[in-house]
Amino acid sequence: MLKLEDICMQVSNDNGENIEILKGLNIEFQKGKVYAVTGPNGGGKTSIAKVIMGIYRHTKGHIYLEDEDISDLSITERARKGIGYAFQQPPRFKGLTIKNVLNIASPEADLMYLRKYLRDVGLCPEDYLDRDLGAGLSGGEIKRIEMAQLLLRAPLISIFDEPEAGVDLWTIQKLLGLIVSRYKNNPNKTAVIITHNEKIIPMCDEILVVDGGVITAQGTPKEIWHLIKDDIECKVRDQCQGDVIYEIK
Ligand SMILES: Nc1ncnc2c1ncn2[C@@H]1O[C@H](COP(=O)(O)OP(=O)(O)O)[C@@H](O)[C@H]1O
Ligand SMILES: [Mg+2]
Repeated sequence: MLKLEDICMQVSNDNGENIEILKGLNIEFQKGKVYAVTGPNGGGKTSIAKVIMGIYRHTKGHIYLEDEDISDLSITERARKGIGYAFQQPPRFKGLTIKNVLNIASPEADLMYLRKYLRDVGLCPEDYLDRDLGAGLSGGEIKRIEMAQLLLRAPLISIFDEPEAGVDLWTIQKLLGLIVSRYKNNPNKTAVIITHNEKIIPMCDEILVVDGGVITAQGTPKEIWHLIKDDIECKVRDQCQGDVIYEIK
């Protein structure tokens, strides 16, 4: 179980002033559950993920993993303990092939498995395994590869930050099915999906709405769907795919 206790996080703006981004968050992520974290852009969703991963340092409060306070651990130490994060905008690693990074994610997985995971994220293995992970790949391709890495690693806590961005609806549905079957009712694992996608939210066990650095609503999809619905503006982002994205006003 991952527990955030009274978590605050500040950053300095261009004028050197401190701005509070997260304002006293209390969250418990239980094992065997798939969580959706949603809310308006700039609400603090990615900051929560980065604070959990140790990329951003919280300024107040504690983070516990299995009752151990991990607040002072580095990113690498937290990764070793079983926290994984697929970035909203993944970094590019020049000089490594896709096969290399998938091997790093799961050294024991054989080539057949690597191929399977690439197919799961909608990429043809023959076209991608030997490609360089630097320039030349689109944002959507990089995102899919990062998701394949996280699915292969399958750490205790897997945080997917807006997996729908740049990924087609067909692949997203397939991926979601995979995440749900892998994590739901799995006694050891937790998935956290940061998302605005109307297909993803109803399939999660619990929804957290983050706005202005605080949790403004929390519950099962049934319990809080009407709250989200009241405030959301339905937009067809990609007419071709028919992918409907909700944006909270
Ligand atoms: N490193 C940073 N420096 C300054 N401001 C930041 C930084 N990271 C996030 N913010 C600000 O914090 C707020 C929350 O951002 P973020 O967590 O990315 O929101 P979300 O993922 O919900 O869109 C935004 O106003 C954003 O501009
Ligand atoms: Mg974000």
